[in-house]
Amino acid sequence: MPSYTLEQLTEQLAAIECEVRRNLAEVTQVDALRGLESRVLGKQGSLGALISSVKEYPPEQRGQVGKTVNEAKVRVKGLIDERLRTLESAASQAEVSAAGALDPTLPGVRRPLGSVHPVTAVQWEIERAFERLGFTVEAGPEMEEEYNNFDALNIPPTHPARDMQDTFWVDNGKVLRTHTSPVQHRAMIKFGAPLRIIAPGRCFRYETIDASHENTFHQVEGLVIDRDISLANLIAMAQTLLREVMRREVKLRVRPGYFPFVEPGIEIDMNCQICGGKRCPTCKQSGWVEILPAGMVHPNVLAAGKIDTEIYTGFAFGLGLTRLAMMKYGIRDIRVLNSGDLRALVAPERFGGPLLRGAEN
Ligand code: DAH
Repeated sequence: MPSYTLEQLTEQLAAIECEVRRNLAEVTQVDALRGLESRVLGKQGSLGALISSVKEYPPEQRGQVGKTVNEAKVRVKGLIDERLRTLESAASQAEVSAAGALDPTLPGVRRPLGSVHPVTAVQWEIERAFERLGFTVEAGPEMEEEYNNFDALNIPPTHPARDMQDTFWVDNGKVLRTHTSPVQHRAMIKFGAPLRIIAPGRCFRYETIDASHENTFHQVEGLVIDRDISLANLIAMAQTLLREVMRREVKLRVRPGYFPFVEPGIEIDMNCQICGGKRCPTCKQSGWVEILPAGMVHPNVLAAGKIDTEIYTGFAFGLGLTRLAMMKYGIRDIRVLNSGDLRALVAPERFGGPLLRGAEN
C-alpha cells in the first residue's frame, strides 16, 4: 500500500518544491548544489523516494500519480539546473576577474525577452501593413475636445447619435474620446488632401463591463481622401487587411450601417474566428462579429476639415482593434485584456515594434 493518498502526495510535493526553492536561494557553491540535488532527487531523496513509490499505487491510480510526481520532478530539476547555470557563470566570471583579465570568448549574458500585449501585437502588424500601402500613422489625444469628438464629425449637440456613445466627461469640458474618429478631423486640418492615415489608439466609454464590453478599448481609425475614391476601394482594402492580419482566409459580409460621419455607412463583419461561424457566446450566437464599421466620409465632415468637396471624396473606417486581437488569439473574454494577466501576452519576436512612440497626450 502506498503511504499517501493522491491529495497528500500533492501536498508533499508542494512542500518539497517550496523547501527546494528556499534552499536554492542559500546555496552559493556548485558542490553544495550537487549535494542538495542528491538529497532531493537521489533514490533515497525526498522526491526520489516519492518517485519510487509510484509503483505501489494500484494500477488505476498509477497514471495520475506518476504524472503528478513527474511534473514536480521536472520543475524541481529545472530550478536546480537554473541555479547551477547561475553559479557556474558566476564562478567562471570570478575566475576571470581574479586573473585580472576579460575573457571575450565567454558567452554573453542572455537577457530574457519581454512579451507584448495581444492588442499591441495586432496594432503593430496593422501599422506595418498600412505603412506598406503608403499610409501615415497618426495619433490624437485621449482627452479630446468635445468639438473634435462630436461636432466636427457631424454630431451636433442635439443629435441623437450623441447617445449612441456613453461618454466620460472631464471637469474641464473635454471628453475621454469615445472613438478614434476625432483624429480624422485633426489629420484633415493638419495635412489637407489627398490624405491616407491610420490612427490607432485607446477609446473610452461609460459602459458596464462584461465578457464583451469594456470601458477602455482600442480602435484603429482609417481615412483616405483623394479623387475618385469609392466604396469598392474600401471593401478591397478591408479584405486585404483582415486576411493579412489574421494570416488566414476570413469570410466577410457587408451590411448597411448608420454613423453620422459617413454616408453611406456600412458594417463589415468577419466570420467568428472563435467558433468558425458555428455560433458561440462570443459572436452572440450569430456566427459573425462586427469588426470594421466604415463608409464614405460625409460631406459635412470633409467641409469641417476644410477639404474641397467638389474635388475630393474619401472613405473612413473604425476598426475594432480589441475585438480583432480577441479573434486572432482566440480570447473569449475581453476582461482578460485589461486584467494584467501575464498569460495573455504574446511572444514578441515576430513584431518589429511600434511605428509611433509616445505620441499619445
Ligand atoms: N467611430 C465609430 C464608433 O466608434 C466607428 C466608425 C464607424 C468609424 C464608421 C468610422 C466609420 O471611421 O466610417 O462607433
